[in-house]
Amino acid sequence: MSDLLTTSAIGTRQVRLDGPDKVRGRAPYAYEHPVDDPLYLYPLQAQIARGRTANIDTSAAEAVDGVVHVLTHDNAPELHSTEDGELAILRSPEIGFRGQYLGGVIATTPEQARHAAGLVIISYVEDDHDVELREDHPASRTPESGGGDVTVGDVDSALAEADVRVDQRYSTPMEHNNPMEPHTTIARWDRGELTLWTSTQGVHPTRSTLAPILGLEPDRIHIVSPHVGGGFGSKGVPHADMMLAALAAEAVPGRPVKYAVTRQQMFSITGYRAPTLQHIRLGARADGTITAFTFDAVSMSSQTKEFPEEATKPARMMYAGDNRRLTQRVVPLDVPVPSWMRAPGEAPGMVGLEIAMDELAVATGIDPIELRVRNDPDTDPDTGMPFNQRRLVDCLREGAERFGWDRRSAQPRSRRENGWLIGLGVASSTYPAGRQPGSVARIRRTSDCYEVAIGAADLGTGTWTALTQVAADCLQVPIDQVELQIGDTDLPNATVAGGSTGLASWSAAVIAATENFRAEHGTDPATGAQSQGEAQANPAAEKFALHSFGAHFAEVRIHAATGEIRVNRMFGMFSAGRIVNPRTARSQFIGGMTMGLGMALHEKGELDPRFGHVVNHDFAEYHVPVNADITDIEAAWLDEDDPLAGPLGARGIGEIGIVGAAAALANAAYNATGVRVRDLPLFGDAFL
Ligand code: MOS
Repeated sequence: MSDLLTTSAIGTRQVRLDGPDKVRGRAPYAYEHPVDDPLYLYPLQAQIARGRTANIDTSAAEAVDGVVHVLTHDNAPELHSTEDGELAILRSPEIGFRGQYLGGVIATTPEQARHAAGLVIISYVEDDHDVELREDHPASRTPESGGGDVTVGDVDSALAEADVRVDQRYSTPMEHNNPMEPHTTIARWDRGELTLWTSTQGVHPTRSTLAPILGLEPDRIHIVSPHVGGGFGSKGVPHADMMLAALAAEAVPGRPVKYAVTRQQMFSITGYRAPTLQHIRLGARADGTITAFTFDAVSMSSQTKEFPEEATKPARMMYAGDNRRLTQRVVPLDVPVPSWMRAPGEAPGMVGLEIAMDELAVATGIDPIELRVRNDPDTDPDTGMPFNQRRLVDCLREGAERFGWDRRSAQPRSRRENGWLIGLGVASSTYPAGRQPGSVARIRRTSDCYEVAIGAADLGTGTWTALTQVAADCLQVPIDQVELQIGDTDLPNATVAGGSTGLASWSAAVIAATENFRAEHGTDPATGAQSQGEAQANPAAEKFALHSFGAHFAEVRIHAATGEIRVNRMFGMFSAGRIVNPRTARSQFIGGMTMGLGMALHEKGELDPRFGHVVNHDFAEYHVPVNADITDIEAAWLDEDDPLAGPLGARGIGEIGIVGAAAALANAAYNATGVRVRDLPLFGDAFL
């Protein structure tokens, strides 16, 4: 860790500094920001999956009391760039997916807006649509972004020569991130300036995305987002809802326009995890050493904008294997635009890979932990570089000890209690340790504290608290002498809270600012003294493969008569560098694991091929884990400091908790029943 830092606050179980305000209702979310004389927006959405509008009759809506304006492509304000198909809304009558915005009604009350929206008569010209993902889809193509394919050695010969082979297909479904606070915006367009009180994982990145589209200089856009009620990636980039609010505000200059996306609208507007199809082949020697490895992944994408759900990503660096071939394809369909959902790529990719490893363990008769240990590479198979700290084996061994892995019988269906079949499973986890350059922190001495300002975001994760702890130790003062300001474009630039890079990236800026502050003002600065510092790129990323690792352990019970599946225990053992705040870190880990439980047991968007919409678009039918699903879930971590990750010694922990968790549960279900489920989620009828 940097010499600059003491560790008085870092490493302590500090409670959330924003907690008391949140429970007392004093920490407003975007929609609750007080504004004068607001108007309300309710959207018009396409009821077909492909085609165009023939006519939009707004006359009945316009006659409704309180309706101020009806926005459609006929009268929408100009956009200066239409490159981003998701954000370039209301440009033409064309429809690329069901649920696409066709306009919106602006009225004095939300009820008037919603009622009037229902009176707009839209007629369509319908074209054939295609919303079905298939491995052999003719539209399948290599994505424009992403890591590309990998070919090493002669995989076909190596597979033919292998003593043991696994050749299976796995799939993960459409999944929807549904933070408690839906996507909300208050937009006000006033004298050529736009203010957005909105819910986002990054105020500055959102501004730089919107500015060229709206044709505004970035400094004419002000984004305010101090409190965020969850994001999970869905607020990592702006989606069409924010654009619709901005255009609505432009149409009624001077008046604030409020728009809260409904839960149902979230299933077509605010991103989701695209379904994936994964064909995995493993070839190994009898001792379990993997000699050949192929992974062909296909993910659903949209015609409106490409987004690859890169399932092959973690397989690039996870296990050794001299002969390897990885391919990643996308199939653009007439569906809503997919986007980030917690650990995009890694979360679905480690489902196939880690179930396949469990199958290889069965095929070779080797314990699944031992199999992973035998295939743990010394250097990164993808780049050839050494790892920063690759402590997967430590996580597996230490986790096994704490979980009681020795109580597992390798023979499936061998433990039965009161009609329930009990099984134990394991899976590996990994996530890259990224750090982004460019964030700037400003430190100012006030009469009674240090003000630390950076446009960072706290999605409810505890970052506000952890970053305050970092700043306090940098400045060598108690945390109550640090006043951290975040979530506003008026503050110095910050990178997105995404890819588990937030805390490491912003801390680098705070550390740089402290160095400058002390150099310029010493240790006894005058009131008003101020300095700033900028986070640089991590030079170690040039020479080392920087990753975190973990091991998930699960015990499930499946009712022999009904197939009902319940989770008795989950335990995650992580290697994630220095842990800044054990209390909030634990919530991140077990939060990710809980989402992994959702992946394994509950979550699946049912896309109706006839109409192209997600049928189960609410919490009555799209199920996420609830308290009753979570009985015994715990996370622990190795005591670490990772100087290669950065001066803080910490790596991001937002996403690693979900990676591998679903596979551990699927593997436990196999151990319980002898039934191998390769398509998530593990609905009970699979076990009958
Ligand atoms: Mo994370 S899905 O990059 O917010």
